[in-house]
Amino acid sequence: MKYVFLTGTNRGLGEATAKIFKDSKIISITRSGVEETGNIHKAFSVDFSDTDAMEHFVPEIFNSVDPDETDEVYLLNVAGIVDPVKAVSNLSSDDMLTNYKVNVVAPTLLIKGFVNRFKDFGGEKRIVTVTSGAARGPVEGWSVYCSSKAAVNMIHSVLNKENVHQGNNIKSAVFYPGVIDTGMQEVIRASDIKEFPNVDRFKEYKETNKLAKAEDVAAALHKVVTLEDFGSEESYDVKDYI
Ligand SMILES: NC(=O)c1ccc[n+]([C@@H]2O[C@H](COP(=O)([O-])OP(=O)(O)OC[C@H]3O[C@@H](n4cnc5c(N)ncnc54)[C@H](OP(=O)(O)O)[C@@H]3O)[C@@H](O)[C@H]2O)c1
Repeated sequence: MKYVFLTGTNRGLGEATAKIFKDSKIISITRSGVEETGNIHKAFSVDFSDTDAMEHFVPEIFNSVDPDETDEVYLLNVAGIVDPVKAVSNLSSDDMLTNYKVNVVAPTLLIKGFVNRFKDFGGEKRIVTVTSGAARGPVEGWSVYCSSKAAVNMIHSVLNKENVHQGNNIKSAVFYPGVIDTGMQEVIRASDIKEFPNVDRFKEYKETNKLAKAEDVAAALHKVVTLEDFGSEESYDVKDYI
């Protein structure tokens, strides 16, 4: 049995991931409420854009399990937002900060909590954060999203160096999920073409069934994080595991 700390459990890729880890005990961390039934061992509710609340809840989340009861602990940072979808010339600091808090600060605080809580844990420790191709390639209208995912990639790269230096024995990587048929794609398709010139391409992805099913991407994520040599790569791409 493994404990899996999971964000975004209530919908989209996070919900599909919770289902695929059916033999694990999930510690769910979401904004919208999730019931403690089935493999949802514990459910915490916190808005990731409220950094003070995150600071408060993170130790409680990781203290909610007894490391002596398991051999494996995973942290899967899945939750994320694409907004604001706006040209740089139209951005507001509030929009930018909300995105960075949800996409960068919250997963990093969870990583911090995980590292500290399981410092003396002798079992298997693994962290995956879901990133995006937008971290590597600029997309008009997505400056904040692209930069948030690039930031998370770099946090993992630094973490990997610190893990070695500090002897944390944590394996960590980012996961590129491709384009998935979730609520995030609905938000993208509803974007204003003036802010997001590529909107028609994303509408076409939906119309021509180019979007992957969340269940298939979750299965690939499961394959990746349970690889025997997981962590030997800094990043994994869904296309190699689907
Ligand atoms: N869908 C794609 O094509 C695609 C492509 C590349 C990367 N990704 C990445 O894949 C991951 C999963 O996305 P998805 O497609 O499953 O998106 P989704 O269906 O829109 O789900 C987003 C999840 O993030 C949570 N969330 C949003 N704002 C939050 C907040 N303030 N506090 C706590 N949780 C919050 C949502 O909870 P609420 O229900 O409370 O809003 C929901 O559980 C994200 O990291 C995304 O960047 C997705």
